[in-house]
Amino acid sequence: MQAADSAQADEGAALLAAARSVRERAHAPYSRFRVGAALRDERGVLHAGCNVENAAYPVGTCAEAGAIAAMVAAGGRRIAAILVCGDGAGLVTPCGACRQRIREFAGPDTPIHAATPDGIARTFTLADLLPESFGPETLGE
Ligand code: THU
Repeated sequence: MQAADSAQADEGAALLAAARSVRERAHAPYSRFRVGAALRDERGVLHAGCNVENAAYPVGTCAEAGAIAAMVAAGGRRIAAILVCGDGAGLVTPCGACRQRIREFAGPDTPIHAATPDGIARTFTLADLLPESFGPETLGE
């Protein structure tokens, strides 16, 4: 394995460990579908979040939203890479709203890993999952 591949594998393993661990704390009594998300910010700091459901169903929040809120609260401003971990019948990728949440803090090449607790199943870029997107630059920011 090349050094760069091995660094990438380490990065994936660190994100997966953080997402698996926070997923254990998900509050998902309604769907029973636990999700954990972990991201690395531009300073190299890890942030994690889990889904938090609510008896008033639409009020629940996704794991990615929690991880992004944790990053912003801790002073991070850019997502270098993000991983979402769930145990579904199919691939667990960020929902549409979360793709847009990620978009606010990431670029088209930012890696988005879709994982199960057993490992990364697939890696996408933000541009793969949200092509021709609307973002801060659209507003001239
Ligand atoms: N969920 C996430 O946390 N992230 C996603 O990207 C997909 C869906 C949560 C929301 C809800 O609590 C549960 O998974 C079932 O939809």
